[in-house]
Amino acid sequence: MDEIKTIGILTGGGDSPATNAIIRAAYVKAKNYKYKVVGIKNGWDGLVNGNAVELKREHVSGILDRGGTILGSARINPFKIENGVEMVKENIKKFSIDSIICIGGEDTNIIMHRLSQYNIKGVGVPQTIDNDINFNDYSVGFDSAVEIATDAIDKLHTTASSHHRIMILEVMGREAGWIALYSGVAGGADLILIPEVPFDYDYVVDVIEKRRERGKDYSIIVIAEGARPEIKNTHIEVKPGLSNIAPAQLGGIGNIIAKEIEKRTGYETRVTVLGHLQRGGRPTAFDRILATRIGIKAVDLTHEGKFDFMVCFEGNIIKAEPMEKVLSNSKPMDLDLYEMSRIFY
Ligand code: F6P
Repeated sequence: MDEIKTIGILTGGGDSPATNAIIRAAYVKAKNYKYKVVGIKNGWDGLVNGNAVELKREHVSGILDRGGTILGSARINPFKIENGVEMVKENIKKFSIDSIICIGGEDTNIIMHRLSQYNIKGVGVPQTIDNDINFNDYSVGFDSAVEIATDAIDKLHTTASSHHRIMILEVMGREAGWIALYSGVAGGADLILIPEVPFDYDYVVDVIEKRRERGKDYSIIVIAEGARPEIKNTHIEVKPGLSNIAPAQLGGIGNIIAKEIEKRTGYETRVTVLGHLQRGGRPTAFDRILATRIGIKAVDLTHEGKFDFMVCFEGNIIKAEPMEKVLSNSKPMDLDLYEMSRIFY
């Protein structure tokens, strides 16, 4: 194997708390191996446009508890840019990068996997609040997003009960319902709606009415942005992605379901779209520890020459799986937990 002298670190796709904790851990471990470390700016855009800088210890000092990513992020796909792959190869040579630590969600890591076909070495790191990366019980950022959404549910309970209203909380997750499910269970939501189980409006109304019969004249409904009613060809406004990789921007289902509930029940209904608050702020301790373990493992895999592998986290064990195996299917939803959550309705 060619000797590794310089590793490049990039952070792509949706940022999250604890992304910086990964960078910090990877940097320190790389220095143990006497590697030079290059910070690639703004995800894959940094290698398309040659925007990178050598990282020094002071760059990663004091960032463990800081949300976001010091390297910046973007949703850029070299495979969708004319000569994009060639530009990446040229800049890898320009910065003498021997291997890449690719931090991000599925979209970012699929690019890393595809580039391995062009003999570009790298290791994948699962970081996304969506928590939809296979063979990862938790991806970095998910626990922090759940904490934020759970706190929002706690806050909504008091105002919902004061005004006897139905409160809808729309959370992120793209096509996955993990944030909705975990925060809904943690926050004691009265109904949790996720993309993996299309919902029925009659059932939604029935849950609300049954609560009223029990004297609860308010309800909290957590809905994932990708959730959809069973009604066929329901048109949900989906804004096309602006950049060349950003998938269509989801959002809006909360207002749609609120209108339908008010129409069917006559009960005052309000909507809170949590949006990018789930992506910001300080990481939880859990995420900091996970990020540290994962960042170190990514550099160890690089040192061992295990390229085109993804760092994974299952059963509290940090391990590695081939990227092909990880990325060929999204992580299946925990429908047992979903069913368990329904006994409280
Ligand atoms: O993938 C993370 C995520 O936060 C999704 O949950 C959400 O739908 C999307 O990113 C938002 O994308 P952007 O930050 O580009 O608006």
